[in-house]
Amino acid sequence: MTSSPISVIAASALTLSLGSGEARVEILRGIDLSVIAGETLALLGPSGSGKSSLLAILSGLERASAGSLNVAGADFTALDEDGLAAARRGRIGIVLQAFHLLPTMTALENIATPLELAGMPDAMVRAEAELVAVGLGHRLHHYPAQLSGGEQQRVAIARALAPKPAILFADEPTGNLDHATGEAVADLLFARAAEAGATFIMVTHDEALAARCGRIVRLADGRIASDAPSDSGA
Ligand SMILES: Nc1ncnc2c1ncn2[C@@H]1O[C@H](COP(=O)(O)OP(=O)(O)O)[C@@H](O)[C@H]1O
Ligand SMILES: [Mg+2]
Repeated sequence: MTSSPISVIAASALTLSLGSGEARVEILRGIDLSVIAGETLALLGPSGSGKSSLLAILSGLERASAGSLNVAGADFTALDEDGLAAARRGRIGIVLQAFHLLPTMTALENIATPLELAGMPDAMVRAEAELVAVGLGHRLHHYPAQLSGGEQQRVAIARALAPKPAILFADEPTGNLDHATGEAVADLLFARAAEAGATFIMVTHDEALAARCGRIVRLADGRIASDAPSDSGA
């Protein structure tokens, strides 16, 4: 069976087991998921239900124990860790709860350096444009420690989108921010993902935030408990 050309993620019977023998735990127990290009999708569920684990597998940070997974035209189940790292480039952007900026680099360098390493000739120009797009044109040469939490997450969003990925993943992207800052960062994520034409997949345990996505997939105990369009989402 071939996947539909507009299906940007095709996952079938994905499992994740960690440990061995009596210490073995089944974290994901058979995930089937198909995502169409341009969708906005929330992964919702209680703490420990497997949201972050599933996001890590779909985004190529971690390998599934079994099952099949095609992401933006790459067969993720056939790749080793180096292969996954290469496949992520240009396909996948990731924003995590902790901002993970390099403390010794300015905002501009945090974005430009990975672009340079990927061999992009106009890395600095592109990095500056991405920072302007997230409202940080006046913070180019600030270090992470000189930026607020909301500003640091904006840098992380700019970094994730700079390589023009097909899919933007976010795991609890507002989890370290106060409510008002979190709302502003969420607004920015939705706006920038749409402007970039990226499919957007977000892990959250916040029902209101999830409802802003077009589709809500609920996880419970490592399985998909429900998968439905949201009422209020775009
Ligand atoms: N490296 C690991 N080793 C063992 N168990 C883990 C590991 N990572 C996650 N888990 C367990 O897997 C389950 C799912 O975790 P996680 O995907 O982080 O859930 P969520 O993001 O929904 O809170 C939890 O029970 C967690 O304790
Ligand atoms: Mg989590």
